[in-house]
Amino acid sequence: MRIQLEALQRDALASLQAAESVADLEQIRVQTLGKKGALTQLLRGLGGVSAEERPILGELANALKAAFNEALTARLERLQQRDLEIRLQAERLDVTLPGRRPPLGGVHPITRALGEIIRIFSGMGFPPATGPEVEDDWHNFGALNIPADHPAREMHDTFYLPPGPQGQKRLLRTHTSPVQIHVMENRPPPLRIIAPGKVFRCDSDLTHTPMFHQVEGFLVDEGVHFGQLKGILSRFLQLFFERDLPVRFRPSFFPFTEPSAEVDMGCLFCNGQGCRVCKGNGWLEVLGCGLIHPAVLDNVGIDREKYSGFAFGMGVERLAMLKYGIQDLRLFFENDVRFLEQHARL
Ligand code: DAH
Repeated sequence: MRIQLEALQRDALASLQAAESVADLEQIRVQTLGKKGALTQLLRGLGGVSAEERPILGELANALKAAFNEALTARLERLQQRDLEIRLQAERLDVTLPGRRPPLGGVHPITRALGEIIRIFSGMGFPPATGPEVEDDWHNFGALNIPADHPAREMHDTFYLPPGPQGQKRLLRTHTSPVQIHVMENRPPPLRIIAPGKVFRCDSDLTHTPMFHQVEGFLVDEGVHFGQLKGILSRFLQLFFERDLPVRFRPSFFPFTEPSAEVDMGCLFCNGQGCRVCKGNGWLEVLGCGLIHPAVLDNVGIDREKYSGFAFGMGVERLAMLKYGIQDLRLFFENDVRFLEQHARL
């Protein structure tokens, strides 16, 4: 039995040394010291041993246990240390790697253009004002000198809404001009305002979207004349496009202004030489304007003998397309991230 014990100690210690994993160690421990393990089995035979030999064998068995446990702990530490080193190697952090940037939002080019327009006009003393997007017929048309049967109404393909609580006709405003009426109804002259905002027309094709943006502007005071309008708008275009381009005022017609004009500026893309963008004529049409029609002043109770005014209106999408070189109106509304990222500014 002594020989068996010694053999067991040798074998057990040898297999501990040979063990290559923590799991192997556990298996060897069970095989040696476990309930059905080799040592336990051996000690069962202790009953048949003489009384003199028994304590000696018992001591031997204890020494074996102690030696085994000591070797087990040593091997376990060794293997854990090795596993840690392997992990440290495998999971080594490359601190020179560039970090992952969180995706950042940006300002949509329309918002950016609006911001620029507002900034420039604020600097010229025209603070922004707002009005409702759901309008009544009077503010969108009637007060602006566009009576019910007026052909100008056909140019505004209007979205009509179900009538209001008092049966009033309601619609989505087709332009920002009704803000003029709201402001003139509520405040006495002198007035100087711009009105940026969304407008709606029942129209959708390559160059029209059912919703788009306009900026309206107007001034009412004593002795207002066309020269001031011309100066303000020329200066605006110069600042917005950051170029000193020629500007021309072409006679036109709007029911709410008299006289009315359309403003063209020299083509940004060919310097007036004629190209695809300006359709060969060297000029780009950028906005409409005029002196406020006296009938409009009458409609809001402003004394037409004492006061006069000018007004203008511009399409923000058109100005943004020209300024940022965007060819297709639909890009503004498709929300393709590649387009938005290209034009995003914080
Ligand atoms: N309201 C016009 C439109 O939507 C734009 C416009 C033209 C506004 C001339 C004005 C103006 O104030 O004077 O087409």
